[in-house]
Amino acid sequence: MGHPLPANVIEPGEQPVEHIAIERTADPTVVRQVVEHPGVRPHIHEGETAVPIPVHESIYYLAAKVQRYSEGAVEDVLIGVMAFLPVNGAAWNPHIAILPAHRGTGTEAMRLGVAWMFENTPCEKIVAHPPVFNTAMVRVFEKCGFRREGYSPRSFRWHGELHDRFLMGIEKEPS
Ligand SMILES: CC(C)(COP(=O)(O)OP(=O)(O)OC[C@H]1O[C@@H](n2cnc3c(N)ncnc32)[C@H](O)[C@@H]1OP(=O)(O)O)[C@@H](O)C(=O)NCCC(=O)NCCS
Repeated sequence: MGHPLPANVIEPGEQPVEHIAIERTADPTVVRQVVEHPGVRPHIHEGETAVPIPVHESIYYLAAKVQRYSEGAVEDVLIGVMAFLPVNGAAWNPHIAILPAHRGTGTEAMRLGVAWMFENTPCEKIVAHPPVFNTAMVRVFEKCGFRREGYSPRSFRWHGELHDRFLMGIEKEPS
């Protein structure tokens, strides 16, 4: 509520329209709603302790939402979060988690996140290191236009075993 309605407001009786939107958040409770979810947490954290959520002005947390327009009203539903952590002054490292009920939206959320980073921050390059076994994550990066730039054997410990990671990157288009 309180959101501006889009130009193509849905008339009563029409089917609702949904689209994915992102916004920067500094609220750790929003991030926790996703990363502590029982369908997400086992994929990103192997311990009993709380998932660490570092806070710094150079770390960008983006909340991904579905905005649903229906009969003149707007409803926002949180579907996931992204974190972009600084590598250096030019490159950031992306992370994403999508709530189980909203799987299927990760690619669009990451596309929006990458575009937001290039538009709103000094970021020139986004550099990801997905574990090779996380096929869905690798696929999301591929579909967003990331290229495979390298391979890092035995660089990720997960439940006591060392796993390989891809190095994948996407660059800001020169303006
Ligand atoms: C990784 C994650 C963000 C992907 O989100 P999503 O909404 O499922 O992404 P999309 O549906 O847009 O795309 C996923 C792609 O991977 C594929 N995929 C999904 N699960 C797969 C699996 N187990 N094996 C192979 N491919 C798989 C999908 O088919 C799709 O590819 P396609 O469009 O070519 O068919 C989501 O699964 C998630 O939050 N996982 C838990 C957290 C996590 O692992 N984060 C990354 C930490 S490195």
